[in-house]
Amino acid sequence: MTLTNNLGIQHPIIQAPMAGVTTPEFVAASSDAGILGSIGAGYLSAEATRDFIREVKKLTDKPFSVNLFVPEYAELDQEQLRKAYLALQPVGKKLGMPFWKARLSKPSFEGQIEVIIEEGVGVCSFTFGLPDETVVRKLKEHAIYLIGTATTVEEAVAAEKVGMDAVVAQGKEAGGHRGSFIGEQLVPLADLLPLVVDAVGIPVIAAGGIANKEHLDQQLLRGAQAVQIGTALLAAEESGAHPIYKQAVIEAAENSTVLTKVFSGKSARGIRNSFIDIMADGPIAPYPYQNDLTKKIRSESARLGKSEFMSLWAGESVHETKGGTVNEVIGKFI
Ligand SMILES: Cc1cc2nc3c(=O)[nH]c(=O)nc-3n(C[C@H](O)[C@H](O)[C@H](O)COP(=O)(O)O)c2cc1C
Repeated sequence: MTLTNNLGIQHPIIQAPMAGVTTPEFVAASSDAGILGSIGAGYLSAEATRDFIREVKKLTDKPFSVNLFVPEYAELDQEQLRKAYLALQPVGKKLGMPFWKARLSKPSFEGQIEVIIEEGVGVCSFTFGLPDETVVRKLKEHAIYLIGTATTVEEAVAAEKVGMDAVVAQGKEAGGHRGSFIGEQLVPLADLLPLVVDAVGIPVIAAGGIANKEHLDQQLLRGAQAVQIGTALLAAEESGAHPIYKQAVIEAAENSTVLTKVFSGKSARGIRNSFIDIMADGPIAPYPYQNDLTKKIRSESARLGKSEFMSLWAGESVHETKGGTVNEVIGKFI
């Protein structure tokens, strides 16, 4: 069976799960376009994940996946947290909030796993790590197809070993957070993909910088069974990205993205803006605490219509992104 058969999709394309950007309409439009729609459930509670799944089911009867963040338990160092919060205050002041409350988030991973089983979701993907064997066994007992994310050969091998049915090879070009969980290496997709294809026996999905049909065909020739595209879909009508974010994406020039940890404490690629520059040398709390600390700054910046302090996650090929409906964007890849 090929990967597309296993996933029940027409085209070898996966709409990248994008936490905060994917809406039920966006996911359903992707599934209806014959690719795998994916819910970016990383930041959702278990109940919000259930509601989201039910909304998608109302809109489409085609397959879709749910993507989860495998939780990390960084030690909570109050002094480090205080320093990181103080370092953000000059930006807070610019937004008219000298002080703000930052509530620390709690992982909802285990509850989300239960919801995925109860709701009969067919495909579940992971980033920031791999689920343990108990979770893998539980999901497999319900015949759920599992996809891991790897940024190196070592991570891809670990994904196969724990029981993933397929693995995403995420190149350095990719937009958003890096899925890395063993060290931090930046490997271009053209180098990473053939190495991963050689190293594992499971299907490999190529991700990072894929902006047109030519890129897609190249990845299939290099041994990928499908591609995962995020940035190309960011400005689509059904995307939940804030209008200012969509505008920044459409107007972005070549070489406008950088990797930064300033928003969340974890490496992610986005369009360079003032926040990234101002905070470049500042003390930063580890993920997920930095993400909690900057949440209000990002939302207030969006509310005031200022893109300078928002996280504008996007990949290296962002200059190729255009608007249109999801169906129109996907049409250009097939
Ligand atoms: C805005 C945005 C949010 C993302 N959020 C997630 C996520 O929640 N889970 C995940 O596995 N990957 C996430 N990614 C990474 C994508 O899965 C994928 O690796 C990436 O989009 C591929 O590169 P491209 O953006 O150049 O197409 C995100 C990417 C973007 C652009």
